Amino acid sequence: MGQVPVYLFIGNGRLSRHLQFYFQQLNLQHKVWTRNTPLDTKDVTHVLLAINDDAIVPFILEHPEIAHLKKFHFSGSLSTELAWGAHPLMTFTHDLYTPEVYREIHFVLDQDAPEFLPGLPNPHHRLATDLKARYHAECVLSGNFTAMLWSHFFQVMEKQLGLPKEAALPYLKQVTTNLQGQNPLTGPLVRKDQQTIDRNLKALEGDPYQNVYTSFVEAYQKS
Ligand SMILES: NC(=O)c1ccc[n+]([C@@H]2O[C@H](COP(=O)([O-])OP(=O)(O)OC[C@H]3O[C@@H](n4cnc5c(N)ncnc54)[C@H](OP(=O)(O)O)[C@@H]3O)[C@@H](O)[C@H]2O)c1
Repeated sequence: MGQVPVYLFIGNGRLSRHLQFYFQQLNLQHKVWTRNTPLDTKDVTHVLLAINDDAIVPFILEHPEIAHLKKFHFSGSLSTELAWGAHPLMTFTHDLYTPEVYREIHFVLDQDAPEFLPGLPNPHHRLATDLKARYHAECVLSGNFTAMLWSHFFQVMEKQLGLPKEAALPYLKQVTTNLQGQNPLTGPLVRKDQQTIDRNLKALEGDPYQNVYTSFVEAYQKS
């Protein structure tokens, strides 16, 4: 039988709190380090760097007491020989999720990582480090940027149009469902309704998202 892992989370931000919650459900031993507290590595086997991407390498270099321990980070774009990357392909806000959500998360693991996080039953896939930057750019485009688009829509609905956000939720739900099948795209770009596109762009005059619309039209035409 392998060694029983004892995890040490570095940081107590969004991702860290979600994973701590999940580790509790899995009965995985873990403790948490936060800034300005002593770093207790007693019995620790695995250090989990759940801090800002830019802080990961400096933290490892500034803490020689974790040099001998196995180290993982969760950044989708960072490649470093100092820690193995295990990127959860998911978005983590300040609210915790139901247990089933955590179990379904796929992790994208650095190609050269000798092991996946022991005790985690999640599916994982290996990715060459030179492909990570592209992989993460796609994650940001698809997940973070659509979140920006929908947040913008909800705000305009409520603040400028006097329409309830709830009115858009069935639309959002069906867009999400359609994306899981084939040919999810509808609308003026697909129909080539140029006059509608022109009206949309004119209506967005003065809104920072007018440029976003124009970029999407260009991307659609080029791809
Ligand atoms: N959130 C997501 O959806 C998501 C998804 C996949 C992967 N990730 C990855 O998860 C990691 C953490 O992201 P997050 O969204 O959880 O960030 P976050 O909510 O902003 O939390 C960041 C944490 O890092 C700590 N921290 C920042 N700089 C530090 C430093 N120099 N030394 C020590 N601690 C430091 C912060 O402590 P203070 O509060 O004291 O500043 C905070 O506890 C990142 O690598 C990110 O790429 C996040």
